[in-house]
Amino acid sequence: MALTVVDHPLAQHLLTSLRDRETPPPVFRTLTKRLTFALVLEAVRSFPTVEVEVQGPLERSPGRLLSGELVAVPILRAGLGMLEAVTELFPEVAVGYVGLERDEASLLPQSYYRKMPPLEGKQVLVLDPMLATGGSGAAACAAVKEGRPGHVRFVCVVSAPEGLAKMEEEHPDVPIFTAALDRQLNDHGYILPGLGDFGDRLFGTE
Ligand code: PRP
Ligand code: URA
Repeated sequence: MALTVVDHPLAQHLLTSLRDRETPPPVFRTLTKRLTFALVLEAVRSFPTVEVEVQGPLERSPGRLLSGELVAVPILRAGLGMLEAVTELFPEVAVGYVGLERDEASLLPQSYYRKMPPLEGKQVLVLDPMLATGGSGAAACAAVKEGRPGHVRFVCVVSAPEGLAKMEEEHPDVPIFTAALDRQLNDHGYILPGLGDFGDRLFGTE
């Protein structure tokens, strides 16, 4: 499994502010969106392109255009905080939704919603800020793969070693793009040092 830790100084600056427990939801939402721009730019680095020539005001010039069709799949709820960055970068993107919530005792993801556009042959970005046990990420990737996409990439803000191991086991073909690889999970499945409950901080619930 390919892992890319996006260590761009701006990405790390934004991540550090997200980790700060004093950051209130309105700022948290803005920072999440900005950090997702940086993560997604890295995630699309290997997208297929086609060589073209365009007529400029002075001369013709060669160039490249993205040629793959993109689908974004945020995992509800917290993945919604990452979606707007993708729709702004790629206005033509189709969006699928996977609703998953961890059971607090078993830590297993419970599925409550799924709505996918056609995925066959498409380039899919699965969006979820936290890769903790990896149960939600692995389940979402499995749901996406039922649609026979051409390529799946997983984009998250913080990842834990346990989640990476789960993805390696179940989806070794899915590259992961993250701003941080943190130390471990605590007894309640929260990432340490992490940044707490992402969905609660994003939406002001607690
Ligand atoms: C959080 C987070 C991930 C999941 C990660 O969602 O957004 O989806 O936990 O944990 P895992 O890797 O152990 O599966 P949560 O279940 O809290 O739901 P929410 O997004 O609705 O808050
Ligand atoms: N989900 C979160 O929101 N945070 C964690 O640390 C783990 C799972």
